[in-house]
Amino acid sequence: MLNYIHNIPTRLYFGKGQISHLTEVLEPFGKNVLLTYGGGSIRKTGLYDTVMALLKEGGFAVTELSGIAPNPRIESVYEGVRLCKEHHINVILAVGGGSTIDCSKAIAVGRYYEGDDLWQMICSSRPGRKALPLVDVLTIAATGSEFDPGGVITNLSTNEKLGAMLTYPAASICDPTYTFTVPKDQTAAGSADIMSHIIEGYFSRTPDSDLSDGIAETVLKSVMKNAPIAIREPDNYSARANLMADASVACSHIPEYGKQSTGWPCHAMEHELSAYYDITHGVGLAILTPRWMRYILQKDPSATERFVRFARNVMGLEGTDEAALAQAGIDALEAYFKSTGIPMTLSELKIGTEHFEEMAAHANRGGRLDHAYVPLTAEDLVKIYQACL
Ligand code: NZQ
Ligand code: ZN
Repeated sequence: MLNYIHNIPTRLYFGKGQISHLTEVLEPFGKNVLLTYGGGSIRKTGLYDTVMALLKEGGFAVTELSGIAPNPRIESVYEGVRLCKEHHINVILAVGGGSTIDCSKAIAVGRYYEGDDLWQMICSSRPGRKALPLVDVLTIAATGSEFDPGGVITNLSTNEKLGAMLTYPAASICDPTYTFTVPKDQTAAGSADIMSHIIEGYFSRTPDSDLSDGIAETVLKSVMKNAPIAIREPDNYSARANLMADASVACSHIPEYGKQSTGWPCHAMEHELSAYYDITHGVGLAILTPRWMRYILQKDPSATERFVRFARNVMGLEGTDEAALAQAGIDALEAYFKSTGIPMTLSELKIGTEHFEEMAAHANRGGRLDHAYVPLTAEDLVKIYQACL
């Protein structure tokens, strides 16, 4: 088990009605609030009205930035930074999903960035930069952005989607009832994303981190139990609550404590798909994950032991033929993703082979996947993309 440092400064308010803490959370930062949100779901659900009423009651001055797109664009970051400077913003309040929160993190850091090129800020990210305080109200269980410092920003003009270390939210309000309206496809995609955050760390070369592995297996089983319920019964509180709690823990790095980092190969490959084709993050991950698994198992049979553990402890399979069990675990995962309605091939998303080489080279820039569970080259990544067609 390796050394690790635990330092998550975010206060998480989890559960029904936690919005009642909103103004007390914002108050210490000042009265000028930048309210950020996406394409309008919060207006349809009424959450916008709830938040605005609370802000009005608390005497806050509100400036709005709306229309933050899934796979948030660098252009929205520029606009947000401009608004922060012009309106002397003291705190950002992000109401939405990972895209809104990520964009708001970039705005928070961009406010103090010395220089005009905010894309350069994303490219040269490092933790601990000065940032405006950020509070969020989460509306979809998926990325874990509410409990981590990461933000993923897209530059469609250069076909780049990059994750950056930006800033932790000061506080996150996570009320599962706000996720009742998440459509079936986004519920499935978000759940696949949660699982991928776990799987990326579970397949690591450190075999003896019992705490991390136990948390990882519990989260995976919880998602596979609760996502189908949430898809069938969108307002099932218990299912939505479990997914939301799972999401925050999954990307917090807690399930990787004491483990060698892996470079997160499926995320590296998925961010390329989103950068070129603007697809939903969780959908890309669900397509890639079983293909990546089959590829690394075949490339390095020493991976069999961990796949057997995955098959037994996560997918609940039994058997004594280890090679068969390892394969069966992967098949079961793929069948699970399919059962949630996710299109499971790139062809269904109308993605062909045209950019595979560039995407693979960029995904593996700087030898990022040299220390993956099974080290991968750009050539390996092309083959994995091909297996996804
Ligand atoms: O934009 P609106 O109108 O709000 O609609 C959104 C959007 O269309 C909708 N939605 C969200 N909550 C809803 C709802 N619709 C109805 N009712 C609700 N309660 O769902 C759609 C997707 O929203 P988005 O914020 O894009 O989803 P998600 O949370 O999955 O975020 C995806 C982004 O986060 C990045 C992804 O790459 C992608 O750009 N990631 C961020 C990470 C992080 N910060 O740590 C890690 C992840 O691995 C990931 O890369
Ligand atoms: Zn993800």
